[in-house]
Amino acid sequence: MTHDDTTTDPTGASLRRGPFRVGERVQLTDPKGRLHTITLHPDATFHTHKGYFRHEDLVGAPEGSVIANTGGIEYLAMRPLLSDYVLSMPRGAAVVYPKDAGQIVAMADIFPGARVIEAGVGSGALTMSLLRAVGDGGMLHSIERREDFAAIARGNVQAFFGGEHPAWRLSIGDLSDVLPGVAEPGSIDRVVLDMLAPWENLDAVARALAPGGVFISYVATTTQLSRLSEDLRADGRFTEPQAWETMIRGWHLEGLSVRPEHRMIGHTGFLLSTRRLAEGVIPPERKRRPAPSKDLVDESGEVESTRSHLDVPDEGWTPEAMGERPISEKKLRRVRREVGQAPEDQ
Ligand SMILES: C[S@@+](CC[C@H](N)C(=O)[O-])C[C@H]1O[C@@H](n2cnc3c(N)ncnc32)[C@H](O)[C@@H]1O
Repeated sequence: MTHDDTTTDPTGASLRRGPFRVGERVQLTDPKGRLHTITLHPDATFHTHKGYFRHEDLVGAPEGSVIANTGGIEYLAMRPLLSDYVLSMPRGAAVVYPKDAGQIVAMADIFPGARVIEAGVGSGALTMSLLRAVGDGGMLHSIERREDFAAIARGNVQAFFGGEHPAWRLSIGDLSDVLPGVAEPGSIDRVVLDMLAPWENLDAVARALAPGGVFISYVATTTQLSRLSEDLRADGRFTEPQAWETMIRGWHLEGLSVRPEHRMIGHTGFLLSTRRLAEGVIPPERKRRPAPSKDLVDESGEVESTRSHLDVPDEGWTPEAMGERPISEKKLRRVRREVGQAPEDQ
């Protein structure tokens, strides 16, 4: 396939091959290893305080070229990989990091042709990994309750794939309201949730999932993890949940100084996965039950509900209570303009 085969290439693979073209993003690495992302424009220049070069000088050059600015500073030019793109793209909500997206694709067993539900969509970072995994013969239906976040995600996804992805549908609304209308009961292979209170949607998820289907959820705090696992057990339609987190430690590679990097990302989130049982099946009783923590045993020695410490009223699970920083209206308007999805352009 050549880079001109866009008509037979709905997922935009050909856009990632061949020489640089006007309109595409290019990632520049400077001599200190710092990254700069530009979008090639025929009349634009890339300026720093040490000089500039014209974008046009990169158009037609192969990926992996080196370009020097007027001050003699050299930049290595590459197309951003998906993992680079999600970290540099405009965002409204926090994104799922590539390390977690990779885990989700692997551990939720997202396969080419799969029928997958995702909510919420946020900035669309995870959406792109899921679309790559289901391929153009699969189906990813993404559901987001905020219209403004959905618009940002649409802009990011379209910019990455170079247009509409044939496997993608995006609905605005609450997962529990939208899901029954877009998926026949038992028709969905995988459900992936990244939201504040995934336990609120367990009934809708259980109805949509096919027997054996995988449900995976990404949560930021242990309190969410605990609440979700207890609610899954209480629901009874799912297998015993499994939870884990991943940490990646980069390595410094310079001469004899080969050692772990001093800094690392200490925490992103936790993943929890479980599978849908066949209808009406009672899961085999668990042989081992963890001992309840001391503060859940009352004075007479009776065990209180293992959920009592999480019986927070629903309105208590706010982004602020989970330590998330709210995004301002002003920033949202700017990000929407950046991805070409401003309300005035709709
Ligand atoms: C952290 S963001 C998702 C980020 C996204 N996974 C990414 O990688 O860019 C969480 C999103 O879930 C949405 N959300 C929360 N509860 C929801 C629900 N019940 N139905 C649909 N969307 C929901 C929020 O509006 C927010 O945009």
